[in-house]
Amino acid sequence: MTVSVASAALAGIDAALITVETRVCPGMGYLIVGLPGDAVKESLFRVESAISSLELTMPRQKILVCLAPAGVRKEGAVFDLPIALSILAASDQLAPEQLEGFLFTGELSLTGKLRPVKGALSVAMEAHKNGFQRLVLPKENAAEAAMVSDLAVFGFERLEQVIGFLTDPERVKPEPVPDVKERPDNLLFVADFADVQGQAEVKRALEIMAAGGHNGLLTGPPGSGKTMLAARLPGIMPPLTLDEALETTRVYSVAGALDSSGLMTQRPFRAPHHTASDIAMVGGGPVAMPGEISLAHQGVLFLDELPEFHRQVLEVLRQPLEDRQIVISRASYTVTFPANFVLLAAMNPCPCGFYRHTTRKCVCTPHAIRKYLAKISGPLLDRIDLHVGVGPADMTKAQTESSAAVRARVIAARDVQMERAGRCNGLMNPAMVKSFCALGKTETAVLQQAMVQHKLSARSYERILKVARTVADLAGEAHISLAHLAEAISYRVK
Ligand SMILES: Nc1ncnc2c1ncn2[C@@H]1O[C@H](COP(=O)(O)OP(=O)(O)O)[C@@H](O)[C@H]1O
Ligand SMILES: [Mg+2]
Ligand SMILES: [Zn+2]
Repeated sequence: MTVSVASAALAGIDAALITVETRVCPGMGYLIVGLPGDAVKESLFRVESAISSLELTMPRQKILVCLAPAGVRKEGAVFDLPIALSILAASDQLAPEQLEGFLFTGELSLTGKLRPVKGALSVAMEAHKNGFQRLVLPKENAAEAAMVSDLAVFGFERLEQVIGFLTDPERVKPEPVPDVKERPDNLLFVADFADVQGQAEVKRALEIMAAGGHNGLLTGPPGSGKTMLAARLPGIMPPLTLDEALETTRVYSVAGALDSSGLMTQRPFRAPHHTASDIAMVGGGPVAMPGEISLAHQGVLFLDELPEFHRQVLEVLRQPLEDRQIVISRASYTVTFPANFVLLAAMNPCPCGFYRHTTRKCVCTPHAIRKYLAKISGPLLDRIDLHVGVGPADMTKAQTESSAAVRARVIAARDVQMERAGRCNGLMNPAMVKSFCALGKTETAVLQQAMVQHKLSARSYERILKVARTVADLAGEAHISLAHLAEAISYRVK
């Protein structure tokens, strides 16, 4: 007999519907076909052990499992549960009708325990999209999957519970739908702007980055508070919209980095160490996994001690900084992960750290300084909109504004941008820049002159306009004035 059961495979942060077709026929041996990865091929051994340990019968016949469509690569142990159920149905130990209308995913242990899977939220979204009304998966993943409304989600700890449930599904209540609209605000950051004394100019620059989604670089001597300031950027960014939160949650779910609470409500702040490899940074590996740039999606990617990073790691950032996503192509797969982050970097001005310091003396040779700065490529610097000098902290300055006060202005400025373009200024396309960043005669002349004088690239021209737009939005102005433009240029030509 042949039995079909619905399941799903992950590709990037999307899931694709997979049909598990199982046939039990005379003969001996197991076979799984349909582009299965290693873990999928091993599935039948786990399934056999799980079924046997439950005093059910693994058929002593030929078992053929076909995963369709064959063109989609299948990875991981997520097909264990649908394969086990399809074998039981194909050998008359379950009624095949009982599996209809359900989508199943879950890894099995040798004793029939259900182990959590990656990407459960994406699987739930795919199930809903394909008209399934019910999803069965491991208990640990239930809260996450239940965020998809109009889909009944059932989480179980063991295979025999699933079988018991299928014989009488009405008996069990689905996982309650968490009220994701009642999101807690993301002001739970412990790091507050008020902790940082002085540094008004740096804070202003961070406010612009948060408001418009622009990239920045903090340069200053050791101990001037660069790391401390950077950690406070996510706390002044606007709260995630529901769609943004769902997308970030899907990335973390696919990475297996989601805690059990479900929806991610805070903007991520990722600070990979400078020894990070390019795979750790952009993603990849034998089974496609999101890297730091995708874990920073909708949040901040902080690269502390920028010149210490491997040059090739910095080079691979260029493409996602433009495209806001990363396409990873390997021999065995091609996947796309979202990577829309604000890049914030920090560095010392020279190897010793005290070049142009007010009181300390720099001991570096001009050659050493040039070599140090040359570690960061021009194309990467070109994509950094705000170059900010951080001076030694003036600890005598009185306490300043809290993150909440700064954030209120950021939210107001961001609302204007969303209303106008449906996106933040940093994400405007050329047509939007043209229509929303129009300059007057004087301003145009000033920008032209700055371009020539500082040998700026065409890319920086557009990026200066975007920052100027954000400065104007923070001021609540409809038009970019000379003062707005001058401030934007000043961040470019340090
Ligand atoms: N403006 C400041 N206000 C309060 N504390 C500061 C300030 N600047 C620096 N510090 C203190 O100095 C420490 C070192 O700062 P840090 O951010 O690590 O500097 P950097 O990254 O520039 O080397 C911080 O942990 C903090 O205790
Ligand atoms: Mg530091
Ligand atoms: Zn020096």
